[in-house]
Amino acid sequence: MIHSNANFLKENNAKHIFHPMAHPKDSLDNPPAIITGGKGVRIIDAEGNETIDAVGGLWNVNLGYSCDVIKEAISQQLNTLPYYSTFRGTSNDAVIQLSYDLAEFFNEDGLSRTFFTSGGSDSVETALRLSRQYHKIRGDHGRVKFLSLKKGYHGTHIGGASVNGNANFRTAYEPLLPGCYHMPAPYTYRNPFNENDPQKLAKLCVDAIEAEIVFQGASTIAAFIMEPILGAGGVIPPHKSFMPMVRKICDKYGILLIADEVITAYGRTGAWSGSRLWGIQPDFMCTAKAITNGYFPFGAVMIHSNVAKIFEEDKTGAAAIGHGYTYSGHPVGAAAAIACLKETQRLNIVENADARGTELYQGALTLMKKHELIGDIRGGHGLMVAIELVSDRDNKTPAESATALNIQQAAYKAGVMVRASGNNIILSPPLVLTKDDVSQIIHALDIALTNNG
Ligand SMILES: Cc1ncc(COP(=O)(O)O)c(C=O)c1O
Repeated sequence: MIHSNANFLKENNAKHIFHPMAHPKDSLDNPPAIITGGKGVRIIDAEGNETIDAVGGLWNVNLGYSCDVIKEAISQQLNTLPYYSTFRGTSNDAVIQLSYDLAEFFNEDGLSRTFFTSGGSDSVETALRLSRQYHKIRGDHGRVKFLSLKKGYHGTHIGGASVNGNANFRTAYEPLLPGCYHMPAPYTYRNPFNENDPQKLAKLCVDAIEAEIVFQGASTIAAFIMEPILGAGGVIPPHKSFMPMVRKICDKYGILLIADEVITAYGRTGAWSGSRLWGIQPDFMCTAKAITNGYFPFGAVMIHSNVAKIFEEDKTGAAAIGHGYTYSGHPVGAAAAIACLKETQRLNIVENADARGTELYQGALTLMKKHELIGDIRGGHGLMVAIELVSDRDNKTPAESATALNIQQAAYKAGVMVRASGNNIILSPPLVLTKDDVSQIIHALDIALTNNG
């Protein structure tokens, strides 16, 4: 039996839980919204307030909270085979079907093999490790370093945190992996080059990457990891030339390209993958989150055929994979993903993500005209938008994080859950959002910004 009394839940929440990404004392002093129900694109809290979830769970509930086909697939699989491992010697029918479906889904991206995981951080760790192993199989033992972008987010395992581009997720946990180097992000609003033209900035960043490769020595670098559109770092869409240029540089120097698509895969950007949005094929693609619509912790690292070939043709034993998770290929997660993928395609969800994404972005730009507190709006590719708050527009002084939190709370009171992250408000609603839902999100933010401006 789960207690339903709101006061009991608030009083007990932080007494026994250490929340991710929160100070334990703050969690004790300021009880969070306690979500007890979900319906369509809306969530309901312990006090009965119903709000539009403009966070989409955590960038993962793409099809909303009422996707019955996934719920039924989970329930059926639980009754048939609730668990079996895929470590050497055993497999299961659900995961075999899913790997087949994923190979079809990602065919255009050149990705034909899957390594299954329990989530995004696991997927990142897997891609980092397999990319080092790829070079070792080929006899290139010196290629062990990783390059990534500042502002990039790659989860919180030690490998992922090491390539992470934000000090908040690093400093307390240092020392991290040696041999990880962070390049300037194509972030037009703030960058070391003082360049606000996206195309020129993309070239400057790529030049910096190439200079670093030459400085480190290409023969020491295993992989470059990046999000096609940086998400948690504040929704930073690069110019369309950026990722193709990175692909070219990686090819030139024999460096593998890992696309971290934990947010962008399965339709969020208005394309089926971020790599496809930019017209490139990565060597590895990390996915998780929306693969099960958030209903089951699950992830999949997609592997390019060229990389798979190196592993599969090895005769020395060097390609034996010494990596894996108890829940790699979990049959219940696999069943959820099979149903989710089918439903995502049946709805052709990319169309709605694109159309509603444009409306949301345009709506946010309208807010910027009215509210001095907004310094920058980023989006324009599907349903991922950031509103960057500043206390002084001319000097681009970042607003206090308390301002973003106040706006989050005011928007919640006005009927919409948004996410405050540093001085950004991040919007990543379910992709099944309606036009009317978009208007409600913008309206709630307008009220919140007016009250806190
Ligand atoms: C791009 C990216 N990579 C990795 C992760 C980590 O995923 P998880 O939280 O499922 O471990 C996230 C999570 O937000 C992400 O956005």
